[in-house]
Amino acid sequence: MKNIDKKSLENAYRLFETGDIEKFEIGTTKGLQQIHNYLFGGLYNFAGQIRTTNIAKGGFRFANALYLKEVLLKVEQMSENTFEEIITKYVEMNIAHPFMEGNGRTMRIWLDMLLKTKLKKVVNWQFVSKVLYLQAMERSPINDLELRTLLLANLTDEINNREIIFKGIEQSYYYEGYEKGNDEE
Ligand SMILES: Nc1ncnc2c1ncn2[C@@H]1O[C@H](COP(=O)(O)OP(=O)(O)O)[C@@H](O)[C@H]1O
Ligand SMILES: [Mg+2]
Repeated sequence: MKNIDKKSLENAYRLFETGDIEKFEIGTTKGLQQIHNYLFGGLYNFAGQIRTTNIAKGGFRFANALYLKEVLLKVEQMSENTFEEIITKYVEMNIAHPFMEGNGRTMRIWLDMLLKTKLKKVVNWQFVSKVLYLQAMERSPINDLELRTLLLANLTDEINNREIIFKGIEQSYYYEGYEKGNDEE
């Protein structure tokens, strides 16, 4: 892992260790920016900042930067009372993809805080396969059934289990190609 990614991973651990995560807004754009700023503050000059240029991944274009602020207002107003609604909201936030980098890692924490607050559950990410998850995310703008099925099968009510949370954070970094003990690049 590059130094910058190691530091970000340490920030992610610290976010939960210190309980700082409890101070952030749940389910809003501001809350997402707070998490992003915590993970990447001092590492990326755009930490916590909404992007102003267009980005794409695997041929998928995320929300146009010109309309991004309006899109984000709509997304944060979406309902979040059931598991289905929360996943739909998460998918829309992923389509918005408000940051230049770090959307995946930030949004999985944001999703977990929503699930924890509304349903007293979190995703047990350590058991969610990287390949299946990334396939489901690629598919999700068209249909979120795959993603819903995958995450529903891996929900846990052990919301205060430190090992589950910390292994989840490691898995989240692993999804994006950052592995502990891998010092290449
Ligand atoms: N083709 C795609 N269509 C929709 N979402 C995608 C696609 N490819 C990746 N994603 C989502 O984007 C995330 C990666 O976004 P990125 O900003 O690079 O975050 P990070 O820096 O944390 O890796 C993935 O975790 C996945 O959820
Ligand atoms: Mg990335």
